[in-house]
Amino acid sequence: MCGIVGYIGARQAAPILLDGLKKLEYRGYDSAGVAVLNEGAITVKKTKGRLKNLSDMIDGGHKIPGTIGIGHTRWATHGEPSDINSHPHTSESGKIAVVHNGIIENYMKIKEFLTAKGYTFVSETDTEVIAHLADYYYNGNLLETVVKIINKLEGSYALGLISSDHPDQMIAVRKDSPLIIGLGEAENFIASDIPAILKYTRSVYLIEDNEIALLTPNGVTLYNTDLDEISKEVFSVDWDIAAAEKGGYEHFMFKEIMEEPQSVLNTIGPVLRDGLLKLDKVPGRISIVACGSAYHVGIVGKYVIEALTRIPVEVDIASEYRYRNPIITEDTLVVVISQSGETADTIAALREAKKQGAKIFGIVNVVGSSIARESDEVLYTLAGPEIAVATTKAYSTQLTAVYLLALSLKKAMGELSAEEEKYYAEELLRLPDLISAMIEQKDKIQYYASRYFNAKSVFFIGRGLDYALSLEGSLKLKEISYIHSEAYGAGELKHGTISLIEEGTLVIAVATQEKLFEKIVSNIREVKARGAVVLAIATEGCELIEECADGVLYIPKTDPLFTSSPAVTLLQLFAYYVASLKGCDIDKPRNLAKSVTVE
Ligand code: G6P
Repeated sequence: MCGIVGYIGARQAAPILLDGLKKLEYRGYDSAGVAVLNEGAITVKKTKGRLKNLSDMIDGGHKIPGTIGIGHTRWATHGEPSDINSHPHTSESGKIAVVHNGIIENYMKIKEFLTAKGYTFVSETDTEVIAHLADYYYNGNLLETVVKIINKLEGSYALGLISSDHPDQMIAVRKDSPLIIGLGEAENFIASDIPAILKYTRSVYLIEDNEIALLTPNGVTLYNTDLDEISKEVFSVDWDIAAAEKGGYEHFMFKEIMEEPQSVLNTIGPVLRDGLLKLDKVPGRISIVACGSAYHVGIVGKYVIEALTRIPVEVDIASEYRYRNPIITEDTLVVVISQSGETADTIAALREAKKQGAKIFGIVNVVGSSIARESDEVLYTLAGPEIAVATTKAYSTQLTAVYLLALSLKKAMGELSAEEEKYYAEELLRLPDLISAMIEQKDKIQYYASRYFNAKSVFFIGRGLDYALSLEGSLKLKEISYIHSEAYGAGELKHGTISLIEEGTLVIAVATQEKLFEKIVSNIREVKARGAVVLAIATEGCELIEECADGVLYIPKTDPLFTSSPAVTLLQLFAYYVASLKGCDIDKPRNLAKSVTVE
């Protein structure tokens, strides 16, 4: 989604802003802009389209001198992507410029209020009300002005603001939208995400809701909304810029798939070494809440947790959960899964559950993110920064996190014998090698991708855990290759959707669950009889499937509960190669954002 970068110091701001925005490109955007303050005047340059358009317009930043500035990449919500709707937005006098991530829910009301006071609006955005409010409330003191502005705002925001009256000040504030402050030597930064400023500093403040930062070249002071000074620990980023760069690979997505064995090992290693998670209470029921791929992990989690512990698990899409008046009892554990830890719907669901007294267990990748901070307990997935919009290594680590949670619950119930614990730990520790074995098969996967990349429509079918995995395989394919794709429980297809199967339709049948093998073979025969071409994913040793499928890719044998791990790498690679053959923008698929920080 939208990205924010700000710089105040002694260097030229614009090239640093462009560089920072480039690091945020992966989040998804459709226009970009910068505002730089020099000799008492703010220059704003902004344009629709890629960052390169902006960079060309200002000659890599050299056309707009100045050592303080704010930059933005916009993912349109209110108003189409256009030059005018791009940020920064300025007050009518041009004296104040603002960048904003999030949505101002009461902007219509504020707009009416300001229009009645004589303000003229040039854009269709909600953000413009902030620039005009800044002018309306401005009393010579920027901090006081910002407090008055945020008192008026409803919704979510991360804001960066500069004023030509204050060439040595920048203000930043957030509510329900991520924002960090980077602390440098005689220079400071604001950003919506760490990679934007990692080249310049590893010391950051993780700003929380309603905290206001006043940046000058020589320091950063933090305030609450009463303008009392507050103190905060400096967070030291422990990964380096190489982790956020392509390192010779053509795409981040491919690089991140290659990193899966190590990421999985990093995630499970410490927990297994410590003898699983120490859970103080065994819940009576579990609710898993998440969005997108993380939601699909939740469905795998339901199968695995219920199979191992018999604790009932329900799984919800976060945006549905928060409005469906969920039943939360005293002994409900709400498991929240999120790579970014900043997905607006997931945060809202977490807060709803917390309000009703649930205990929150977060499975989160980004350290210090909102969901990590607001959960009662956190299990971090140690996937490192994930840049490609389509998640791969984070999904893989989330899978192993739910396996660890399931086993820890079983142990806390006193139902995991020492032998079983040893067996499962060994099986989990084999997963990195099994994932590597999938990566070694990449040429074969690419071969099947080259056979089928012209498909117009694809159906993924599976049963049990294979159904859960089909949902993710299908999402991966459609989001990066733009091929229409659906996932069905293999037994459900015949209740309507089978009417869409015709001569040559591609069906990907996931068949790793031995006890359901015969069943899925029957389902494969059903679609074959109607003309489908079937690519099956099966476990080594189940070669019988070759009799009914047109092509088969095998995963190595593992415990049936853990087959999703190697199998998802296979499906991710399949989607990757299909998208690559179609010439798609793999790391930045159209219309998508890495982290959806608005409702
Ligand atoms: C976006 C991404 C998805 C991701 C979902 C949830 O839609 O494009 O890949 O699965 O958000 O993100 P989270 O950061 O909460 O896991």
